[in-house]
Amino acid sequence: MNAPAERRRSLHGEWTSRLGFILALAGSAVGLGNIWRFPYLAGENGGGAFVLVYLVCVFAIGLPIMMSEVLIGRRGRRNPVRTMALLGEEESGTRAWGLVGLLGVFTGFLILSFYSVIGGWTVAYIVEAASGAFVSAGSEQVSQVFSDIVSRPLVAGTWHTVFMILTIGVVVLGVEQGLERAVRVLVPALVALLLVLLGYSMTTGRFLDGLVFLFEPRFEDLTGASVLAALGQAFFSLSVGMGAVMTYGAYLKDEESIPRSTVAVVLSDTSIALLSALVIFPIAFAHGLDPAAGPGLAFQSLPLAFGQMPGGVVVATLFFLLLSFAAWTSAISILEPAVAFVMETWNWTRPKAAIVVGAIIWAFGFATVMSFGPWSDIQFWRGTFFDNIDHLSNNIFLPIGGLVIVIFAGWVMARNSTADELDPQAGWGYRLWRFSARYVAPIAVTAMLLSYGFGLF
Ligand code: PFF
Repeated sequence: MNAPAERRRSLHGEWTSRLGFILALAGSAVGLGNIWRFPYLAGENGGGAFVLVYLVCVFAIGLPIMMSEVLIGRRGRRNPVRTMALLGEEESGTRAWGLVGLLGVFTGFLILSFYSVIGGWTVAYIVEAASGAFVSAGSEQVSQVFSDIVSRPLVAGTWHTVFMILTIGVVVLGVEQGLERAVRVLVPALVALLLVLLGYSMTTGRFLDGLVFLFEPRFEDLTGASVLAALGQAFFSLSVGMGAVMTYGAYLKDEESIPRSTVAVVLSDTSIALLSALVIFPIAFAHGLDPAAGPGLAFQSLPLAFGQMPGGVVVATLFFLLLSFAAWTSAISILEPAVAFVMETWNWTRPKAAIVVGAIIWAFGFATVMSFGPWSDIQFWRGTFFDNIDHLSNNIFLPIGGLVIVIFAGWVMARNSTADELDPQAGWGYRLWRFSARYVAPIAVTAMLLSYGFGLF
């Protein structure tokens, strides 16, 4: 039972090859979430037990949801709102499923508003690194560089603006021209540099402590809030739950294998997150930095390593350049669903949609800029404005979006429709997916949301 013929092709272009799709999806998944967010969350939540819950969430929940998003996207071949409405009508007679697409577009709006601010920090760090600001620097000097950037709205705001312009620029160029070409080189280069840094962190003398911190589960450190944080991080890092993966799936050719591509992406994303943590913690320990330092962790520990190593200026500059690229390829995928939605809904051109949507998100991003500066004392609910947006989008909205998507794929779509996209022979891999999509993922996400998400409101 194939999708109707008029939906065989995407409205916005297609990936030229399977590798192109894998790289684009990896470009979306690998970003600040791996190198900036994962290590500091692991640090704040006590390490090992958090990492274990995270890994279970990634493979038992995130992977089946990612497959669901790609298959839904490819079958609908529209923006997430219209795809969900179309398939909803086809499979169950109601277009109301489009609402989850709308939630996704809104979540993307919130996420990009802070993602671009942190992306701006990484761009600022390219300049700092190249100018030698970290050479032989101690932890105080490095912390000073950090706070000079993030706590001054004019500085952070300028870099946020630069980052947003870059993101809008690629989305204006479109899928084939802009994206696929960039990620081909950048993701492999980032991994290579992380390996160089791993070599350095092994020489700090605290590598073993880093390993223990990261992998020895101390379950007494695990709280409801940290379980929910691990779930939210799994969604955030894999880019699932808001329609970004669905949008990329819409540009995937019919003949490419969804299971193989998604497994490759999930494995790379997870390895890069663990690798970053293994680089960051030994350095932090060796220099007496607090692993629970929060959002500043990566920005304050890595420069210490760069400052000590031979050729550190070059390595540091390259590293922040690559990190900015990784953030950039992710940001593009956060903007794309909203842009595709606006283009299809109001018949806008791609440049107009990208510029208008991007500008609104950019303006909203200044609330995050301020929350690391003059507004850092304004605390409510979860903390600063940034903390609230971050919690709401990653720990609540992404899991809700993912839950509805996986229920749709597992329960609402006919078995034939999903098998047709994933594996027409319906082998063991397909049956495993369907079992997780019907039972494991929905039950686990619901349980975590109810007990830790809503229970904590
Ligand atoms: N996965 C990205 C990261 O780890 O940095 C962030 C992200 C991209 C989240 C795309 C959500 C999304 F739709």
